[in-house]
Amino acid sequence: MSRIAYFYRKILRAWASGTLLEKSTRFLSTRISRPFEVLAGFLLLSTADKKLNVRDGFSDHRQRPDHRRSNPEHIQRIMAAYKKAKQAQEHAPQALQVRGLWSEWISVNYGKLIAVLEAGDAEQLSAMLENLFREPCTIGAGGYDSYLRYKSLLGSLYIKYVWSKYRNCLLSMDLDPRDVDFPNVGNQTGVYLDRKIISIETLRHAYHAVEMRNLLTDVPGAVCVEIGAGLGGQAFQSLQIGKNQISKYILFDIPEVAVLSSYFLLSAFPEKNIRLFGEGEISTSPDEAFDVAVFPHFCIQQLEDKSVDLFYNSCSFSEMDGASSREYLKVIEKSCRRYFLHDNHDVRLEFKETDGSISTNVIGSELLPDPALFKRIYKKPRVHGLPEDRPFIQYEYLYERIARPDVSS
Ligand SMILES: C[S@@+](CC[C@H](N)C(=O)[O-])C[C@H]1O[C@@H](n2cnc3c(N)ncnc32)[C@H](O)[C@@H]1O
Repeated sequence: MSRIAYFYRKILRAWASGTLLEKSTRFLSTRISRPFEVLAGFLLLSTADKKLNVRDGFSDHRQRPDHRRSNPEHIQRIMAAYKKAKQAQEHAPQALQVRGLWSEWISVNYGKLIAVLEAGDAEQLSAMLENLFREPCTIGAGGYDSYLRYKSLLGSLYIKYVWSKYRNCLLSMDLDPRDVDFPNVGNQTGVYLDRKIISIETLRHAYHAVEMRNLLTDVPGAVCVEIGAGLGGQAFQSLQIGKNQISKYILFDIPEVAVLSSYFLLSAFPEKNIRLFGEGEISTSPDEAFDVAVFPHFCIQQLEDKSVDLFYNSCSFSEMDGASSREYLKVIEKSCRRYFLHDNHDVRLEFKETDGSISTNVIGSELLPDPALFKRIYKKPRVHGLPEDRPFIQYEYLYERIARPDVSS
């Protein structure tokens, strides 16, 4: 789809959902302020940072000898899981219907992926997934967005400026980006560093992975659940950086996006036991022989009571319909036995759905677990942020389940 057709569809959808004015104002204000911020930020970088190798980081990595070709067995499993998930989604609880922003994203950006999945076209699907991070369907989840920014005016300066900022955040957690791993899966974009491509998103994921590892230091065999996991980058970093703590990592996401994270994690972790929807239960019991599971979002209610050590959500609860985030909060209150870590923005979003109903989000500050069950450890301004994120006030939150003598942990 050409960019003009893409913008046309977005404008039509925004008009229909009653969000056109708000979105265009935000778009224009960041378009005007971004070049000034990027230029000033770049000029203040050290000489070494000005020379970061983004040219090789954004070249096509599919020809490199270490590029991981898609495994036909993985592709078949991903297609089978998607098909089953779409059938099951018809019976999903009302509160977990996908509405609002992500219903729009799916209709505007996922047409090609859905067509390929519905046709069962393994060859086309492999080709798209081998180009993961640069396919238009990865926009909004930290993939294609970065590629487009690089291609835009001052693109290479933008990447160096933001990358250096995120790198400094990671260094403040005592982790050097050179010690961050990233496999040559899909077609990642970022800075070429020690024969790896380290993207801006990877630096953010690694930062949060260190936070998780630190929280779980005294919780060997921890079970983590991530809701709205995008392309699976956070799961990868959490499992690498927290490998001595985390024994199970379960992702819940809408079926179309779960296709992308399933592919990434299956290719990135060939040695791990990865369970997709339809391949077994979602139980967190140690007897369940999986390390990673990727399940459709509406299965989350199957989690057992007090079975999860850490729930994680980033840039997602405040992007979904309020009924869904409230439902997830209920699940967290029931199934979390230790930590609930999330970062979400405070911008109220309203979408007019095609049936005329209005979808409204719950902003991060209002997503409060029951104070009788959880105490807040902190609420702090977000650490990471792109120049485009300026209009979005966002905080990071950590909650901990209150220990009670009458309740086993
Ligand atoms: C902006 S992306 C963030 C991805 C990832 N958490 C990160 O920070 O890189 C938003 C994520 O929320 C997911 N999402 C949107 N609506 C959802 C819903 N109703 N239930 C579960 N996940 C949802 C999207 O599919 C996507 O994975």
